Amino acid sequence: MRRRPFVAANWKMNGTVHAVADYAAAWPDPPPGIDVVFCPPWAYLDRLAAALRGGGVRFGVQTTAVEAAGAFTGEHAAEMARDLGAEFAIVGHSERRRLYAETDAVVVEKFLAARRAGLTPIVCVGETLEERRDGKAVGVVLAQLDAIDAGAGPAAWEDVVIAYEPVWAIGTGETATPAQAQEMHAVIRDYLARRSSALPRETRILYGGSVNAANADDLFAQADIDGGLVGGASLDAGEFAGICRAAAQQS
Ligand code: 13P
Repeated sequence: MRRRPFVAANWKMNGTVHAVADYAAAWPDPPPGIDVVFCPPWAYLDRLAAALRGGGVRFGVQTTAVEAAGAFTGEHAAEMARDLGAEFAIVGHSERRRLYAETDAVVVEKFLAARRAGLTPIVCVGETLEERRDGKAVGVVLAQLDAIDAGAGPAAWEDVVIAYEPVWAIGTGETATPAQAQEMHAVIRDYLARRSSALPRETRILYGGSVNAANADDLFAQADIDGGLVGGASLDAGEFAGICRAAAQQS
């Protein structure tokens, strides 16, 4: 059974007040039958949500603090995202792991923080180029999943979205081939099957890494690819709308 396609925009640290207004003006209503989620920078979440309100899209954040409130200068709590109407939190993005030293232990803490606040985690996993060349890609991805599994307990995989984002494909223009992506997605689905027979049928597994409107059709046509987590191409409303249309064709 095909799952409801899910396409998420990860704007990363991009945007201005004017760009948000321009984007909202150019953004067409998404096609029916899919989930579309915008994860803008925290600074623009409220503004983008107000601009797109009623347009059938949902919202998420790119990272949260571990703590719920308190003396944590500069941080934003998952509860605050919920308060602003967000429903999702990206957890364990490779840029957070690499540039901000987020270990598996921190990723688990953030996963639990999202859950506590009532946000659905979008868990990112993926290997580096070196790890792939060394034949370690599957082992790395399974270890990242195992860390969440161990830290979050039996309910870890209920109401979660998983994004396979090979690090070597992020922002490089070098997309994993549909076959490479499908292979890893099948590994992830098999991992879920070993946790609960119901999970693999339900859980959306997204591909991320240089997705654009031209390559989305072939990626989304794969049996275990249920949509995309889109970086650069989501910054252009027309391009991102094209990716959403490609996902809708699979619904
Ligand atoms: P790009 O689409 O820019 O390669 O980024 C992918 C990504 O990191 C989404 O989270």
